[in-house]
Amino acid sequence: MIDRCGRNIDYLRISVTDRCNLRCIYCMPEEGIRLTEREKILQEPEIIRVCKVMAELGITKIKITGGEPLVRSRIPELIYQIKEISGIEKVTLTTNGILLKGQMKALAESGLDSLNISLDTLDRECFCKITRRDLLDGTLDGIKEAMKYPEVQLKINCVPLGLEEQDLCGIAEFARKNPVHVRFIEMMPIGYGSSFAGMPQEKIMNLVEQKFGKMIPYNGKPLGNGPCTYYTVDGFEGKIGFISAISHKFCSQCNRIRLTSQGYLKTCLQYTAGRDLRAVLRNGGTDEELKDRIRAALAEKPDGHHFREKAKEDDTESLCMSQIGG
Ligand code: GTP
Ligand code: 5AD
Ligand code: SF4
Repeated sequence: MIDRCGRNIDYLRISVTDRCNLRCIYCMPEEGIRLTEREKILQEPEIIRVCKVMAELGITKIKITGGEPLVRSRIPELIYQIKEISGIEKVTLTTNGILLKGQMKALAESGLDSLNISLDTLDRECFCKITRRDLLDGTLDGIKEAMKYPEVQLKINCVPLGLEEQDLCGIAEFARKNPVHVRFIEMMPIGYGSSFAGMPQEKIMNLVEQKFGKMIPYNGKPLGNGPCTYYTVDGFEGKIGFISAISHKFCSQCNRIRLTSQGYLKTCLQYTAGRDLRAVLRNGGTDEELKDRIRAALAEKPDGHHFREKAKEDDTESLCMSQIGG
């Protein structure tokens, strides 16, 4: 699928729930968000149908995300069915890891290709401060369990907030000792993220280089489907990556669209632009009608975000990250 800016769209991110077992300060308010009624959330067969139609249109890579996707039941079963769809090459999952321990085996058996676990700090108090939950051990156990399945490529996502206790070099250590890639994500001013400054990529690179030596740009085979740029560090088993949506804007290379848990097809993180697919799914619409809606959405995909500028259009998204799916 080629959009109006000539970009090839082959990556669909599907949020399967807006619920989460953490309350990260840059993502949600303390009390959580008002949860969507269950009947508004797409059911498993509806998600599978969208995936099939998307595959026919040229989507080859699918990400399962949330909220926290593993608070929804039957995620391994969902992944297994998506992997069966002709044309789908890679299915990946992004999670906070807390519920992984009991599900990792089933996930690996489902054919999951790669797994991203969010971990912002190794310090228990700091973890409590960021996520408002005392569950660091849950995430660390999830990482340990995931490492037992080398067939599923593991990456760690860290969003630096500029807190010293986050100890970014401590997190980078994961990539030194293990075949795990560690990615630092620049804070995006979306929802609650707007209240935090985050940390610029160059500053993080300086910290890592001071401790571990020179970082060399990696130009080998792609290590994922997303916008991350990677570096090798001498003596490291894994790579260090950066997703810097603001300081290193990557919209001109955008290859992705998003499906919210309510079945709205969003064509850009920052804007509401898109189409409701649930209405077609639930009103007896045909696959051709679904495809028409998807094509119509793509024809209006914004050229990119305009975070640094004054709102360009008045349809700027008001949802928070857990509702969009990151
Ligand atoms: P792989 O590269 O396949 O491992 O996955 P990914 O980086 O696409 O997925 P992940 O769910 O781990 O997302 C990491 C971060 O990248 C999240 O904070 C996303 O919000 C961010 N991200 C992914 N796509 C976009 C995008 O199109 N625009 C912006 N601004 N951020 C994005
Ligand atoms: N800016 C950048 N990353 C964010 N995430 C959640 N909210 C934001 C934000 N405002 C991250 C999570 C997770 C990934 C899917 O998105 O920490 O690692
Ligand atoms: Fe949950 Fe992820 Fe939001 Fe944290 S950032 S509250 S783990 S959805």
